[in-house]
Amino acid sequence: MTRLLQVSGPDDAAILEAAGILLSGGLVAFPTETVYGLGADGLNPEAVARIYAVKGRPATNPVILHVDSVASAQALASQWPAEAQILADRFWPGPLTLVLPASAAVPSIVRAGGPSVALRCPAHPVALALIRAAGRPLAAPSANRSQHLSPTCAGHVASSLGEAVDLILDGGPTAAGLESTILDLSGAHARILRPGPIAPADLAAIIGPVELWEGAVTAGELQAAPGMAERHYAPRARLDLVARGAGLREASGRVAYVGLGTLPPLPEGVRGILLPLDAEAVGARIYALLHELDDAGFDRVVLERPPEDEAWLALRDRLRRASTKETP
Ligand code: TXA
Ligand code: MG
Repeated sequence: MTRLLQVSGPDDAAILEAAGILLSGGLVAFPTETVYGLGADGLNPEAVARIYAVKGRPATNPVILHVDSVASAQALASQWPAEAQILADRFWPGPLTLVLPASAAVPSIVRAGGPSVALRCPAHPVALALIRAAGRPLAAPSANRSQHLSPTCAGHVASSLGEAVDLILDGGPTAAGLESTILDLSGAHARILRPGPIAPADLAAIIGPVELWEGAVTAGELQAAPGMAERHYAPRARLDLVARGAGLREASGRVAYVGLGTLPPLPEGVRGILLPLDAEAVGARIYALLHELDDAGFDRVVLERPPEDEAWLALRDRLRRASTKETP
């Protein structure tokens, strides 16, 4: 049986128990403000290896270290540029991950053998309390099998990873619903590797122009920007994107159509789902909706393409990857 403990806040006794499991090399899934993470002691290579095994994650894809303070982050980076300091002052704790040259303290497996490390201080009281109680940085990718949908509640973790996890801390549904923005500060120019809740304009307002990396890495390829596989975040159902208001002429099988702001007339038998034309609200809801449609046995989900403006950038990125068909 999967062990799942409800956790009411940072003082809950479950957090101490979870920290004990982490310090003895175990895996604990925990809530953050973005998605649930699959945590291990980030300084214990064997524990981090279990993360890779349980997720089925390629060894070329490094993991994020979660810290509770700027001081802990600094100890894990060999350089801490002024940009890192002002961004951390402004956005930590919060959904911003910074990629920096790694210090000698970071095990090779965390970096997937590369020279840099991804660092993030999450804005969730349970996550912060857990990092503090463990007294270690926690390695934590999203708590799902590799390439699948990220979990936004404890139930998603249990159904994706089940008994492979020693403990799941249930802190209710996550707030942002999409993974953190990843900003690479290890090169000559600041570069967004993954768009997320913190928009390019928010970063640019503080550190000046940032590049947006829009490439993709296909399976087996050497990863210049690790983990940016084109197919990712995918539900079991086939996912198709259509123009807003396009509707459907005909459909076979169990099909859901997700409209943004309005719902066009649909063929009989198609389940219409209306989401608001509001990027934050859709971001918070989208993974849970796709999980629900998978669980309900839908074969195909047709989603209206989000608007082109920056507010929808992270969502467009996730939906594009989620709708990318399997490479043969
Ligand atoms: O919101 C989040 O970031 C969540 C929560 C749990 O914190 N975590 C998360 O982790 O999304 P994961 O492993 O699912 O995605 C992390 C991404 C991967 O695409 C990985 O390739 C990239 O971060 N990454 C990790 N270390 C890196 C590094 N040193 N350089 C470049 N990319 C890195
Ligand atoms: Mg992930």
